[in-house]
Amino acid sequence: MKLDAAFLAFGVIRSALAGAVIPRGEPTPAKVEPIEPKYFRDLGSKRVKITYGPYDIPGSEDAATDGMVSFHDTNAMMPCHDCLITGFVSDLQFLDGKSANANKNMWLHHTGLMNLNRTDLACEHWPERIGVNGNERSPFDFTLKGTRKAGYYLRKGDEIFQTVDVMNLSHQQQQVILVIEWEFIEGTPAGFDIVVPVWLDIKGNCLNETTGIKPTDQVFTAKGGAGWTSKYSGDLILMVPHIHDGNTKQEVYLDGQLVCTNVPRYAETSDFITHVDEDGHGHDHGASEHIYHVSSITQCANAAKVVPGSRFTISSWYDLVQHVAMPDHHGKPEPIMAIEFLYLARPQEEAIKDILAMKPGDLQAFQDQVRSNTGQ
Ligand SMILES: *[C@@H]1O[C@H](CO)[C@@H](O)[C@H](O)[C@H]1NC(C)=O
Ligand SMILES: *[C@@H]1O[C@H](CO)[C@@H](O)[C@H](O)[C@H]1NC(C)=O
Ligand SMILES: *[C@@H]1O[C@H](CO)[C@@H](O)[C@H](O)[C@H]1NC(C)=O
Repeated sequence: MKLDAAFLAFGVIRSALAGAVIPRGEPTPAKVEPIEPKYFRDLGSKRVKITYGPYDIPGSEDAATDGMVSFHDTNAMMPCHDCLITGFVSDLQFLDGKSANANKNMWLHHTGLMNLNRTDLACEHWPERIGVNGNERSPFDFTLKGTRKAGYYLRKGDEIFQTVDVMNLSHQQQQVILVIEWEFIEGTPAGFDIVVPVWLDIKGNCLNETTGIKPTDQVFTAKGGAGWTSKYSGDLILMVPHIHDGNTKQEVYLDGQLVCTNVPRYAETSDFITHVDEDGHGHDHGASEHIYHVSSITQCANAAKVVPGSRFTISSWYDLVQHVAMPDHHGKPEPIMAIEFLYLARPQEEAIKDILAMKPGDLQAFQDQVRSNTGQ
């Protein structure tokens, strides 16, 4: 099983609460706890912690899954509706609230969110891809620590598809939860711009272009082709990358000019270090006893002014000699990824007018494409 084919393809729909009868149109129940907001408290901002799951992850020797499971929810609990989401950050945890990470043999392979009631700016027949993240657990803060009035508009009735891919590196079965802290402001407060997401990828806007990278390549630069061209004007306020172990740098260009450099950091805390047992545990990590994983990657803020016709392209550098690639459970290196989420802040009135005119996207077409992507 190729892991990028597994991403969003091998699904357990709304399985988090097996057996529960969820009325049509209602989000999957999840625990919602209010916590202290961080930014724009004077404007009545709110922050909640939502607990998704629990998810049962079979062992790494489970033949059906290899310890890798992708959970899908077609109507995930959101913190609010008719509101602006100003930021969110995700963490994979054990049921006791302790972080579930590489040192404990649990791996947040991917989390992703899509708005089923909108179409995507990069691949126009798909639902809108809001954000993707991996074990690095990057924060998404559209307010740039309270310095920018911007948020993602969630309409009443919008249904959000959530994927949670978890990989179990150990021989023991464990249960985990995904905890997302969301910050938001009710309604559409004056002076706030609307953030629209764009998924820029070396595999192209619809993830169907070849990168030319072979599975045996060790040190290489992956370059996207034509890139994405904006129809809109706005401020490119935030850029959040997602890459895999082995990455050393990623760059984004606007009309050929460098506008963002992302640099990953490895093993900033011991949580991000895999300890390989002396006797091994069913898969081959090579000679190294400790594997250092990506623990964060830098983002770019206030990167550029965007006008209709602005074209973005992406390049990403990998060095699998310097950094061990994450193995799948057949001991093969995991396929590389190089994604950059561009968050464009658009004037509120025109952005909402465009959003209201959007039709639902084709989730099946997206899943079919991802399923057909094997390797690089
Ligand atoms: C959003 O999309 C879902 C799934 O396609 C649909 O059931 C729902 O009616 C849509 N909501 C609105 C407000 O159109
Ligand atoms: C992880 O894999 C091991 C080994 O197969 C298995 O025993 C264990 O139950 C799995 N852990 C989780 C969380 O499923
Ligand atoms: C990728 O998919 C899009 C949308 O279906 C299509 O327009 C485009 O021609 C495809 N590109 C390749 C290289 O197959």
